Amino acid sequence: MEEIGKSYLPDTAFPARTVDKEKCARCGRCIEACPTGGFVKGKDGFPEPVGYGGFKEACINCWNCVAMCPEGAINLEGPFAIKEGPYKSRLTGVMDYPRPIAGDTRPYAEIEESLTGVERVIYTRRSNRLFKKKEVPKELLHRIIEAGRFAPSAGNCQPVKVVVITDQALISEIENGAMKVLRLFKNLYLEKTGKRKAWRAALFGALTLFMAGKTDPRPFTAMDKADKDKNVIYWHAPAVIFILKNKVGISNPDLDCGMCAQNMVLAAHSLGLGTCYIGLAVEPLGYPQNAALRRKLGIVHPWEAVTSIAVGWPKGKIDGIVKRDTFQVEWK
Ligand SMILES: Cc1cc2nc3c(=O)[nH]c(=O)nc-3n(C[C@H](O)[C@H](O)[C@H](O)COP(=O)(O)O)c2cc1C
Ligand code: SF4
Ligand code: SF4
Repeated sequence: MEEIGKSYLPDTAFPARTVDKEKCARCGRCIEACPTGGFVKGKDGFPEPVGYGGFKEACINCWNCVAMCPEGAINLEGPFAIKEGPYKSRLTGVMDYPRPIAGDTRPYAEIEESLTGVERVIYTRRSNRLFKKKEVPKELLHRIIEAGRFAPSAGNCQPVKVVVITDQALISEIENGAMKVLRLFKNLYLEKTGKRKAWRAALFGALTLFMAGKTDPRPFTAMDKADKDKNVIYWHAPAVIFILKNKVGISNPDLDCGMCAQNMVLAAHSLGLGTCYIGLAVEPLGYPQNAALRRKLGIVHPWEAVTSIAVGWPKGKIDGIVKRDTFQVEWK
């Protein structure tokens, strides 16, 4: 708690992460692809779980390291939850594997053949952060986008525009533009000296009152990892798809864009591709520093970026079954 207080971070519970050195082949995949920079290479070459900027741990409990480890060497125990304050997680804290068949507690591998193809894609899809240096053919990108076009939308309004970027220089430009803004936040939030300053505590206390979502500390580890990795936000993906909303669309255009994006993501995984939603670059694009970049990307009124998706060929196995916090479901 004392350490956590240093960087304005709330009391947080992290899963316990252990690496079985008997099994680990020291391939470094988990170190490279952890979204929070939660593992570093230890002196002996084995991954070591680390903390960050006042957090004793840096882990969002996504289980991607478990899914992608070729040796089954990583073990995670327990939930990731912010226990109190404005960011308090409303999770049950009970983690479990997919249980689509009520009352059936057999391992996923044993129930898989009873599931539909769509269900299998849903349960095995993981965010992909290790991509091969290999282009995605335009025909496949088209196939993904077409899946998005047939997502439902309120009043069939389809308040969506799609921008596909395969120009690596332009992807780097977006990363650099985003990082300029993210770095301001990151440096404001984190104390290099480890000493908490009263004025910052007051500032963050005030900000969280009316913009808790924007000051949530959880993305800061990812921002720092992107910064240290030379602004790499898109994980060297060969293609990026931006989903833009028509701000004057009826009802809830953000929801329509989300459903469209998820159609694309599921279609991509069913085609053997990997994807990762990338929110880190989206919000900073809206800042005045990035006005010219917005115009270059066609993000002009009435369009606004809702999310972006990195797309590419997975390097090794990444998709796989993980545990997730169990939903609170009320049956009435
Ligand atoms: C809207 C949204 C934004 C996200 N932004 C990022 C991001 O900027 N960088 C990243 O590495 N992952 C990002 N993710 C991926 C999440 O971290 C990931 O979905 C979550 O940890 C669950 O893991 P899974 O997708 O493998 O099931 C984002 C996910 C969503 C839905
Ligand atoms: S992915 Fe698995 S085998 Fe590779 S370094 Fe990490 S724990 Fe070891
Ligand atoms: S569970 Fe996710 S955040 Fe935690 S160490 Fe593994 S890859 Fe990193």
